[in-house]
Amino acid sequence: MLPTLTTEVHMVRPLDLGIFLPNAKGGAIMATGSPPQYSPNWELNRKNALLAEEAGFEFLLSMVKWRGFGGETNHWDYSLESFSLMAACAAVTSRIQLYASVAIPTIHPGVIAKMASTIDDISKGRFGVNIVSGWNKLEYSQMGLWQGDDYFKRRYEYAAEYLELLRRLWTQDRVTHRSDFFHFDDCKSYPKPSREIPVICAGQSERGISFTAQHADFGFLGGQDDSLADLGRLNDKLQASAARFGRKVGAYVLLTVIAEETDEAAFAKRDHYIQTSDKAAMAEWARVAGMDFSRATYKDLAVQTFMAIPYVAGSYSTVARYLDGLAENGLAGVCFIFPDYEHDLKRLIDNVLPLMKHKRPAEQPSLALVP
Ligand SMILES: Cc1cc2nc3c(=O)[nH]c(=O)nc-3n(C[C@H](O)[C@H](O)[C@H](O)COP(=O)(O)O)c2cc1C
Repeated sequence: MLPTLTTEVHMVRPLDLGIFLPNAKGGAIMATGSPPQYSPNWELNRKNALLAEEAGFEFLLSMVKWRGFGGETNHWDYSLESFSLMAACAAVTSRIQLYASVAIPTIHPGVIAKMASTIDDISKGRFGVNIVSGWNKLEYSQMGLWQGDDYFKRRYEYAAEYLELLRRLWTQDRVTHRSDFFHFDDCKSYPKPSREIPVICAGQSERGISFTAQHADFGFLGGQDDSLADLGRLNDKLQASAARFGRKVGAYVLLTVIAEETDEAAFAKRDHYIQTSDKAAMAEWARVAGMDFSRATYKDLAVQTFMAIPYVAGSYSTVARYLDGLAENGLAGVCFIFPDYEHDLKRLIDNVLPLMKHKRPAEQPSLALVP
């Protein structure tokens, strides 16, 4: 008997496009001189926010950082605070979704609940929160806010309770709660946000990913070595884990883009960044993160220069094909990092996005709006 051939009709969902705003010095490339060094300021962030909104991007995300890595570039030593920045973005934009990051060891959920409600109001229901459990002790111990090394082991237990409290404060009239971590006594928090506040968690450890599966609306997947197929498999794993809690999670990828007219020009730029990497800043990052790069190979140097974040380098069409590949492998969205935020977003909009196959028709809502 002949085998029956079945044709599976596979709908490819267009990617949600987002920008990792340039709110920390040096961005996500640890290199001296070139790419252009920027000190974070409102004007650069405003410009990128408005350009992204005008081009139809779905979201903006800014990170929270309390201490950088020094070196020749003072990498991440200067940063704009995330909630304040997103409040300003809320006031100048009208459609794009906005995510601020909270480092939960630094601030009480009772305060963050109201800050989020405030930005929800300013933005008319476009605000969400990225929960950062805290991986760099020095950021917190420098302010006396590290709760002891036991905290690191329990950080996602703390995060789960923190988020549960945020959600209760956003929806319930009064909150009373007593635990090792938090005391709430008949606590009132008004106004309530206008919608369920979407939550991102970008944790990469097993525990972090399982927290995302159980509690977050969006997660970030993947490291530099992951192929498109690997990212697809990581997404399947995340979805299977979320399904055990009866949930779905949008899987995003943080991606540094080096796009040029030709592959060769992009590779030359990538190699230049690696050759001019800020060794002192990288060494400090490795030290505080407990990584050993003492016998670094070229590959390790790339990992360090691009801060272990996935990147794509290539011609405009190579980059467009890569982005289509993310969509074809089931990823829900991508959050772009650029070497040069003064010019690269515009270059991507003008040269890469028109070459993509999987673009969102105007009438299809993005996942960022409907988690
Ligand atoms: C998109 C994205 C955004 C992140 N934002 C921050 C941030 O704002 N501040 C921070 O300290 N870490 C940030 N991180 C790091 C993660 O929150 C997380 O702590 C890290 O990946 C380590 O994972 P783990 O906590 O599961 O060990 C981010 C990571 C990604 C991929």
